[in-house]
Amino acid sequence: VRRMLVIGIGSGDPEHVTIQAVRALNRVDVFFAADKGSEKRELVDLRKLICERYIERPGYRFVEVADPRRDETVASYTSRVEAWHEARVAQYEQVIGRELEDGQCGAFLVWGDPSLYDSTLRIVERLRECGHVQFDYEVIPGISSVQVLAARHKLALNRIGGSVAITTGRKLAAGLAPDAEDLVVMLDGECAFEALKSEPFDIYWGAYLGSDHEILRAGELAQVADEITRVRAEARAQHGWIMDTYLLRRRAR
Ligand SMILES: C[S@@+](CC[C@H](N)C(=O)[O-])C[C@H]1O[C@@H](n2cnc3c(N)ncnc32)[C@H](O)[C@@H]1O
Repeated sequence: VRRMLVIGIGSGDPEHVTIQAVRALNRVDVFFAADKGSEKRELVDLRKLICERYIERPGYRFVEVADPRRDETVASYTSRVEAWHEARVAQYEQVIGRELEDGQCGAFLVWGDPSLYDSTLRIVERLRECGHVQFDYEVIPGISSVQVLAARHKLALNRIGGSVAITTGRKLAAGLAPDAEDLVVMLDGECAFEALKSEPFDIYWGAYLGSDHEILRAGELAQVADEITRVRAEARAQHGWIMDTYLLRRRAR
């Protein structure tokens, strides 16, 4: 039977790869990597660098799988993403069937941790349901960008006995729960925090966390929002891509 490993590789710092992940990397014959175009080249390159640095056993291969385009004409966000996932499932079915032999071990290297805003586990489950390629799989956790953000700002994410929500820029833009106290926001390409400048929040922001380009900003939202928006745009223009995450913390009344 084929075996697949879903390995969390951390969010930019090769030193965040866990010992368990290193052991898992050393079992892999074929790595499947989504090719998301030249802008995200650095992200594929980091995966290769991690393999070169930690794999001692020769003979592993990388197979790049062209990522299907999302059909932006589909109005509903959920339907659009579901259709895109199905296209990926079809593609992976073919590639795994072709590239991985019975008894071999394949892997998906997942940015950060596979449990947070990543489609790999959904796709793997779907592949198994479809049943055209058969395999067992294991999940190896990784250090998420959320943990790196907290460490860089020396933060505990929750306040005593409090809760923390993790959400997206899209959800934040659609409206904030009135009692939201501590919110981690990911996948925000539009600086949704700008709309909350009149509310009493502090922001702890980080971009390219764990990498050489890392940028951090923190302060009262009303004071630092414009600067973050400017720094973000400049960095994005300079590197061709950006990934940023932030905590919004309601100020004590
Ligand atoms: C598709 S999600 C993947 C999250 C990933 N599974 C994790 O555990 O961090 C991508 C989002 O994660 C956040 N992110 C990932 N890596 C990051 C990094 N190095 N610095 C800042 N934010 C990052 C950003 O909010 C980005 O929009």
